[in-house]
Parts: sequence; structure tokens; C-alpha cells
Amino acid sequence: MDRFHISGPTPLVGRVCASGAKNAALPALAASLLTDEPVTLYRVPRVRDLRTMRRLLDYLGVGSEEREAAEPPESPKPPESPESRPETALVLQRARPSSSSDAPYELVKTMRASVLVLGPLLARFGFARVSLPGGCAIGVRPIDQHLKGLAALGADVRLAGGYVETRASRLAGARFRFDLPTVTGTENLLLAACLARGTTVLENCAREPEVADLARLLNAMGARISGAGGDTVVVDGVDGLGGAAHRVIPDRIEGGTYLIGAAITGGDVLLEQAVAADLAPLLDKLAEVGVEIEVSAAGIRARARGGDGSLRARDVATAPHPGFPTDLQAQYMALMTRATGTSTIRETVFENRFQHAPELARMGARVHVDGGSARVDGPTELTGAAVMATDLRASACLVLAGVAAAGTTVVDRIYHLDRGYEGMELKLQGLGAHVARMAESMAT
Ligand code: EPU
Repeated sequence: MDRFHISGPTPLVGRVCASGAKNAALPALAASLLTDEPVTLYRVPRVRDLRTMRRLLDYLGVGSEEREAAEPPESPKPPESPESRPETALVLQRARPSSSSDAPYELVKTMRASVLVLGPLLARFGFARVSLPGGCAIGVRPIDQHLKGLAALGADVRLAGGYVETRASRLAGARFRFDLPTVTGTENLLLAACLARGTTVLENCAREPEVADLARLLNAMGARISGAGGDTVVVDGVDGLGGAAHRVIPDRIEGGTYLIGAAITGGDVLLEQAVAADLAPLLDKLAEVGVEIEVSAAGIRARARGGDGSLRARDVATAPHPGFPTDLQAQYMALMTRATGTSTIRETVFENRFQHAPELARMGARVHVDGGSARVDGPTELTGAAVMATDLRASACLVLAGVAAAGTTVVDRIYHLDRGYEGMELKLQGLGAHVARMAESMAT
């Protein structure tokens, strides 16, 4: 298990570029199950969850390999920059007829997003058997809405032995209203409905940019989806889908993490290749807190003056997009420890997403958690400590706190971070931070 050793405090200064969005790339990979033709994806982040999804697809008969990008799609093209690596493409193609429509527990338990193969397998092969993902560090996270939606399209859905088994000779378009907006639930239904007979109308959909990105890929493959990214999505079913090339959107959560990094360290960071509209809830909040935000063609620049008194405590409540993202709540809490005043952070999306709070307290933060709310009293001088990452975003919170803290911070269990942040230590080093990855054998 790797650890990060961080010496601080250091202001983060410079330019950084977000990788492709993990949560857009995952459903994009699952979409390759819907066709025999190659699906070529650009800007797929090199993170562990994507490797897990590739393993699962391989098991299901879809091979994938990285190639030098031949002709990336014209738009939206990243600006040329001296540091930009030659672009690679991930090409996915069915290697053998589906011998298995079965996603086993061993693969699914390591990553909940594996459930995204349910919709496409069912739509394409008429049968899918996928292990129930179970709970996880941040909450119970049921998939009842995925199953209700598939049943509304005519699937027979059964639960047996920890697995969900779904069957339908061909799905039939229907009107379905989600009881609550769910990101992967909406994506699963889109993946299924594009091969259904007739028209599907999905209401109360998740409006996250990652949902809209999936619809763009599916439409490039020949699907007929309109309204994705809004509350109501209409899918006119087609008989088959072909291959396509698609560039995954930049990761707004990763990018937002570096902007918060600039704020918490009194730094100055330009986030290149960012979509400001997708980050609006964070940018508005940072501006309220006293961070100078500038959006230009070059990217999003966040500047903060160092020293106590320059940041104001501001409350936040997480909510589905376009609300404040739950995936930035932990990082925002780290920021609030350095702001003057008392802030209340309400987590409304997941029931158990404050596990970073006691770890922050080990670094000197004054955080009091009460159910779904946390009160942070600031400012506190953070001091380095040994802390433990418990989930992906909690890890990012602790790493940012470590860069802002005086002394040495050791963040253990960095494998959580590796699920979703590509080369975080390298990007932070590029911004001036003193962060080193220690493999277990090197760590004392
Ligand atoms: N929910 C249900 N029933 C369902 C589905 C969801 O009750 O059938 C509940 C969940 O328990 C939760 C709420 O609805 O309380 C929202 O969950 P959602 O389904 O939207 O989450 P998800 O699709 O499982 C995705 C991201 C998460 C991100 C959430 C919320 C992917 C692969 N994962 O999860 O990302 O936090 O949406 O935005 O897209 C992360 O990247 O760190 C991460 C956890």
C-alpha cells in the first residue's frame, strides 16, 4: 500500500491540466458492449477504476488497447501546450461473441460502477447477471432505481444469491420517472433504452455533465437521444449501433480539487482545458469565500492571498448537479478549516461521507459532525500528522490539507486516491508542492 509523504506548507502556483473525467469514461467504456465495431475513446484517464472496467469488459468479451492517436475527433480539441503528451486513444472492440453476460462478485465488489454493464448487456444480449455491488465506505448506495427503470422497459428482474438477473427478448420503450436523480442509474437506462423498440421518456434524470457526455458518445454510435443533461431525456430506440470516436470531457472534480488546492494554500493556479460551466457551483462558492476567480480562454485561474483572514467561512450543502458536488465536499471541508468563522457543511447525497473529518481533526482542525452536517470552526493552523485515507475524495481532502499544513503529513492508503486521480503527486509537484509517493517497502 503506497503512502504520500508531504512537507508543507507550500502555496500551489502554476498551471495544471485535468485528465479525462473518470465518471464519464466509465460509462463510455460500458457503451462498447452495445456494438461489434470499434469504439475509440480519447482522454481516458489512467486511473485504477478504468483498469478495473477494462478487466470487466475483457471478461465480457470486449478487448481494449491503448494506441497512438491517429485522427482525434476535431472538437473539442485540447489546446497545444509544451507539456502535452502525444495523445493516446483507447480502442475497445468485441473480441469474441458474448460467451458470458455475467459480471461476477470478484470484479463488481472492487468498483460499484461495474453495475453500468447491466443495461448494455441486457439490451444487446437479452440477459444479464450482475453481482449486487453492496454498500461502500460512503453509504448504502442501493440500485433499486436502475432495476425499476429496466423493469419499466419490460425486463424481468430477479434477485438471487447476491446477483441481479435480468431478461428481456427485446426491451420496449416506456415512460419512467426516477424517484430521485441517480447518475449511474440514468446512464444505465440510457445505455439500455437506445436499443429498445420505440420511444423511452426518462424523467427526473441526473443532470450531471457526465450523463450528457455519455449521450454524445451514444449518438455518435447511432443512437437517438435528446435532452441529456436536462431533467427529461427522450430516447428513440434503434435496431443497432456502430463504432464511434469520442473525446471524454475533462474531469471537473479533479480540476476542482486543484482549484481548492490553490485556495487553501494561498496559491495561484490556472486550470487549463476546463469547462467553467460544469464547475460553476464550486467557482461561485470559492468567490464567496474570497478566492479570486478568473475565467478566460486559457482556463480557470484561482488566486488566494495567504495568511489568516483572507478566506471567509461559508456554508455549503451538497446536491445533485447543478448543485454543489458531493465529490468536492471533503476538499471544501479542508478549505473551511483555514477560513475565518464558522461554516456548516451539509451532505445531502450520501449518508456517510464525513470520514475525513476525524482525520482532519488529527491535523488540528476543529470539526464537529452531527448526522448529515459538519460544523467547522476556523481558522486553524493545520499541522502535519499521520492520517488515513478512507475513500477517494477523502484522500484528496487529506492531501490538500497536508500541502497546507506545517510539517510532515503522511497519508496512508493512497490506493483510494489512485482509483480516480491520475498522477496526483506529479501534478502537485508541478505546482511546487513537496509530495512524494512511498511504496510500502520504502515507507517506514
Ligand atoms: N440511489 C438510490 N437508488 C438507486 C441509485 C441511487 O437510492 O438506485 C441514491 C444513492 O444511494 C445516493 C443518491 O441516490 O444517495 C445518488 O446516488 P447516484 O446514483 O447518483 O450515485 P452513483 O451513480 O452511484 C455517481 C458517481 C459518484 C458520485 C455520485 C453523485 C460514478 C461512477 N460515480 O455515483 O462518484 O459521488 O454519482 O454525484 O459516476 C466519486 O467519483 O468519488 C464518486 C463516488
